[in-house]
Amino acid sequence: MIITIDGPAGAGKSTASKMLAGRLGFQFLDTGAMYRAVTYSAMKKKIPLADQQALAAVAAEIQIAFLAKRVLINGRDVTDEIRTPEVTQNVAAIADSPPVREHLVKLQREIAKNGNFVCEGRDQGTVVFPNSPCKFFLTASAEQRAVRRMEQLTKAGQTADFQEIVAQQNLRDQQDFERPVGQLKKADDAIEIDTDHKTIGEVVGELEAIALLRMKSAAEQAELS
Ligand code: DC
Repeated sequence: MIITIDGPAGAGKSTASKMLAGRLGFQFLDTGAMYRAVTYSAMKKKIPLADQQALAAVAAEIQIAFLAKRVLINGRDVTDEIRTPEVTQNVAAIADSPPVREHLVKLQREIAKNGNFVCEGRDQGTVVFPNSPCKFFLTASAEQRAVRRMEQLTKAGQTADFQEIVAQQNLRDQQDFERPVGQLKKADDAIEIDTDHKTIGEVVGELEAIALLRMKSAAEQAELS
């Protein structure tokens, strides 16, 4: 069974997806980390971000793996490196690249084909796993999302300016909604969960209750057929 969780940056997807996977005993697929891994590798190789062919070649030649909550490229732990501000700044250009997306979508389907997964990203319910019986779309107000980002950065010991965070967030939203392929969009059959004014525990509880119902009806249907 695949559960998809899509939504804009800062809606709480990452924490909620990991916790939901933990509660259900599912594996967790962080597809944003895959776009970040390609970005990091392309930057290392000094590949111009507009060179579609070279980007596609990087995506195809690197081996991305997830191991005990760490992200590996060709066996090397890059969990921290893929989350630097420089990678965050460049990742949208990579996520806009049709051949990179094509490759990563294939890889995501491959990874998730033999197991129970919570797959988190922007296009999981619409493009990658359109037949998933349990899709969520997490949202939060722009203000709440910026407050959360501010808290994350402060906790990580980084200085942060609220207005700058709002401006960066607006830019990322625009990039995510407007990219020519893999745009952030709610699937018609996704359940929208507004995470404003809810604790993470409340959000995960809501997701879990719905997921358990969906799992039950999927199991009943499988029994009938
Ligand atoms: O969730 P994140 O910030 O780690 O995602 C990194 C970037 O990758 C962000 O620009 C959105 C993009 N992305 C995407 O286009 N499709 C996905 N399935 C996941 C992330």
